Amino acid sequence: AAADTAVPLDLPAAAVTEASPVEVTVLFGSQTGNCQEVATTVSSKLEEKGMKVTLVSTADFKPNKLKNLENLLIVISTQGEGDPPDTAIQFHEFLHGRRAPKLESLNYSVLALGDSSYEFFCETGKQFDERLAELGGKRIIDRMDCDLDYDEDAEEWLENVVNELVASQEATPVPAAAEAAATVETKASSFSRTNPFEAEIFENLKMNGRGSNKETYHMELSLEGSNLDYEPGDSIGVYPENDPVIVDELMKETGWNPDELIPVNKKGDEVPLLEALRKTFEITVLTKPLLQKVAEFTQNTGLQLLMAQENDEAIKEYVYGRDLLDLIRDYELKDLPAKEFIGLLRKMPPRLYSVASSYKANPDEVHLTVGAVRYQTYGRDRNGVCSVQCADRREPGQSLSVYVHKNPNFKLPEDPDKPIIMIGPGTGIAPFRSFIEEREMMEAKGKSWLFFGDQHFVTDFLYQTDWQRWLKDGTLTKMDVAFSRDKTEKVYVQHRMLAQSKEIYEWLQEGAVVYVCGDEKNMANDVHNALMTILEQEGNYDSEQAHNYLTTLQQEKRYQRDVY
Ligand code: 2AM
Repeated sequence: AAADTAVPLDLPAAAVTEASPVEVTVLFGSQTGNCQEVATTVSSKLEEKGMKVTLVSTADFKPNKLKNLENLLIVISTQGEGDPPDTAIQFHEFLHGRRAPKLESLNYSVLALGDSSYEFFCETGKQFDERLAELGGKRIIDRMDCDLDYDEDAEEWLENVVNELVASQEATPVPAAAEAAATVETKASSFSRTNPFEAEIFENLKMNGRGSNKETYHMELSLEGSNLDYEPGDSIGVYPENDPVIVDELMKETGWNPDELIPVNKKGDEVPLLEALRKTFEITVLTKPLLQKVAEFTQNTGLQLLMAQENDEAIKEYVYGRDLLDLIRDYELKDLPAKEFIGLLRKMPPRLYSVASSYKANPDEVHLTVGAVRYQTYGRDRNGVCSVQCADRREPGQSLSVYVHKNPNFKLPEDPDKPIIMIGPGTGIAPFRSFIEEREMMEAKGKSWLFFGDQHFVTDFLYQTDWQRWLKDGTLTKMDVAFSRDKTEKVYVQHRMLAQSKEIYEWLQEGAVVYVCGDEKNMANDVHNALMTILEQEGNYDSEQAHNYLTTLQQEKRYQRDVY
């Protein structure tokens, strides 16, 4: 039937053929945007093969459509302790509830993104995978669980899915214009997560004053010649290098030959060991899966005993705050063959920093706010790999390996007249500097309200002069600050919010968009609870209604979070 022969919208009319292409829905649930990016790649690959693809977020997907789907690919991440991304909560609930339909004619496959340093690694992906099978769905190929270094695994999964789907399409000729469509799609920049850009550092300034406990850097990087650009709310991915001191200690401990060639990808490209340890592999984090691999590989009795324990507590306790060097020393691992042993490690994952500048206001530049992470465990100094590299080992004139990470879930409202409320203590302030700089450039009329907090007014008021200027010229309407260690009792951003609950409620009634950026574990939760309290107090909601109100805000993209 001609009506069924739908063609991707941007194809020329010539693409209409008699064939009925395989129809695939690519559903993604993204928190920070990785899944969306992967899902977009998946879609274009399938379209290249002449399939009819619908790309949709779990936030917008109508669950009653499930029953009619033939092929479903799910690309989904897992948050913290095994939760779905905010945008997937409702779909997840629906699918696991009573009203989920039987799905006997569904073919599906799940690509799960996660972080193996968390206990419930790829949990959300697993749950979707198992539930769809329970409802009668058939797997096109098995689920793939990907760690932070997901690129190669995702590619392998995609290749296998494509092969299966192409096989099922066998008899169906590829529409003539599909190839053309694939080449029409031009990318603005050739630089990406898998091909980062060497960005020169223009500025690297410590913002905290003398005597502060904090060490926060304002960095300005050049994007000139990269064709990269970004929007407020996006992040910059930075590939750091390991601390050369730790690498040297590792070399001493193992006696490895620095010039031995080490494979760095599935293709088999090789680099000298010393370079691989500095740039390519993660050596500062231990995970249970890594311990398991090392135990099997070395057959070390002590390590095997640890892994054989019934509950995970001892393993968790061991990996927390230790690194590869500790592991090798503690278990006296000797005569490790470099190539094989390094092959057990994860690839160095990039770190994401929210952009702190507007591209419109700073063409060919990006600004970042980087908080140096330093602490001590087991008698050794430990450093955040990327943040301390920026703090101690990167000066203007040197460079960082970067790419732009789009974050569609943290965006200024399209309507510049809309009021915005921004809550960003500590380095959580970064995206709001970019928001306000952007609104200044656009001469936006919408009201804006910033909540900022840090330890001390005198030393830790990040970007103070910027805020004061914007307050004065009206770009920023209101600002409330919470300096937690200037008085005896703690004052946090949520306390400032609660003190102004009436006005916050009014802004919400006027359609304000609420943004929260910064610490996930404590701050974001406390701010969420403060919003609940404000709704209960000012709107007379009971707690269930307040919860529903916030869920609706989330769905309408009026409550967005960038938390870490
Ligand atoms: P503290 O260090 O005095 O505890 C940025 O780091 C600011 O966030 C600091 O002032 C810090 O206060 C504060 N902070 C710590 N825990 C918080 C929480 N649960 N909610 C909001 N702010 C918090």
